[in-house]
Amino acid sequence: MRILTVGGSGREHAAVAALHRSGADIYAVTRNANPGILGLAKEYRIISDDNDVDAVCEFAIEHDVEYAFIGPESPLEAGLVDALENLGVSCAAPSAAAARIETSKTFMRELMARHGIEGNIEFASFSDAEAAAAYLRSMDREVAIKPVGLTGGKGVKIQGEHLNGLDESIAYVREIFRDNIGGGSVIFEEKLVGEEFTQMVFADGKRIVPMPLVQDHKRAFEDDTGPNTGGMGSYSDADHLLPFVAAEDRASALAILQKIVDAMAAEGCPYRGPMYGQFMLTATGPKVIEINARFGDPEAMNVLPIMETDFASVIKWMVTGKYKEEVKFKNLATVCKYVVPEGYGVEPITGKQLCVDEEAIRECGAEVFYANVESKEGELYTGKSRSVAVVGIAPTIEEAEARCENGLKHVKGESICVRKDIGKKHLIQRRIDHMKHLRS
Ligand code: AMP
Ligand code: GLY
Repeated sequence: MRILTVGGSGREHAAVAALHRSGADIYAVTRNANPGILGLAKEYRIISDDNDVDAVCEFAIEHDVEYAFIGPESPLEAGLVDALENLGVSCAAPSAAAARIETSKTFMRELMARHGIEGNIEFASFSDAEAAAAYLRSMDREVAIKPVGLTGGKGVKIQGEHLNGLDESIAYVREIFRDNIGGGSVIFEEKLVGEEFTQMVFADGKRIVPMPLVQDHKRAFEDDTGPNTGGMGSYSDADHLLPFVAAEDRASALAILQKIVDAMAAEGCPYRGPMYGQFMLTATGPKVIEINARFGDPEAMNVLPIMETDFASVIKWMVTGKYKEEVKFKNLATVCKYVVPEGYGVEPITGKQLCVDEEAIRECGAEVFYANVESKEGELYTGKSRSVAVVGIAPTIEEAEARCENGLKHVKGESICVRKDIGKKHLIQRRIDHMKHLRS
């Protein structure tokens, strides 16, 4: 298989590693010199903007690729899949129309409402700042405030958590419109209380096949404090559930995702590719926080290293619709922690040298995936975003966490930090207790 991969973060390194294991020839386009991806690719091109559809298509033609895997969301919105498909490249990723499930939060909520899909929540969208402010003034409950379009996972602010009082909320709404954040329109959502989990699935336009559940940690600092980030780290359990999510909760989440895939097919924009469901498990079951048109990052690094089924064959299944009954994953737990530049999420300190001893990390029972780093003359330097992820893999979360921490000792550099509490017993226990309390 000759496959084009787009993207240069830890998620894409994990995907490229899984494709490489399946014997695929990889032709990679990235914005950064990610040594993990570059080392596995047959050919690569570094471009300044991965939304440059023409440059990616040119590279695809040059290397006569048959398939494409696209990691990040913004090239989907830019129409990369539509352009590649026109060239005869089969994409395991959604068209721009199908990617609206992520690129427009209003589209996602309205689709769920039109089809009466459970797990939707109350929402109101506005394309006018004054009407939005008036709505906020009229609300007697706290809400989540979100730009409607893409913001790289950093645009959501919750009243009572990130925003105190009406004035701060209205100021944020005005900022969204003034600075055109996420396309410059806003959606308010009912504020959910519960515990979050990620259910990712593979979809072929009609059917879905599940991946193990994962829990991400969005907040920059320990104990879930600080600004929201793209995700600081994540864990999964050996039984593919989570310690606070029962099999029936997972079944409800999967039923919601299947109905979304059905609804998209019925509306003429069938969804192909990995789909990411982020859910809040509430006292009344799982509710949709957001749907993404791709793998999660870091979540991809929890599931792809333990995938037993050949990833190349899953890609073929998604694009041809020749149904795969099951995609197999090993019964192992994983804990992934990202090393990030100090100040990540606000004002990152960048350009610092990083030393990674890959072999020593593997000897700890962990894997390493490179993200927003640059390799220059054999040395590695940090960028603005997440740098390197270490994933511990073991029969229990506790052991996987210990392996991850041991592995992290072999990542050295200045001005870097890690959320140590991810996968630790006390944090997981707090989530179990919170769910018990909500459901009592
Ligand atoms: P998102 O970028 O949509 O994933 O949102 C970032 C974070 O904001 C999520 O991980 C949740 O913690 C929180 N969040 C988003 N929507 C809601 C909501 N409706 N109620 C409560 N928290 C939310
Ligand atoms: N981990 C969150 C995301 O990929 O959006």
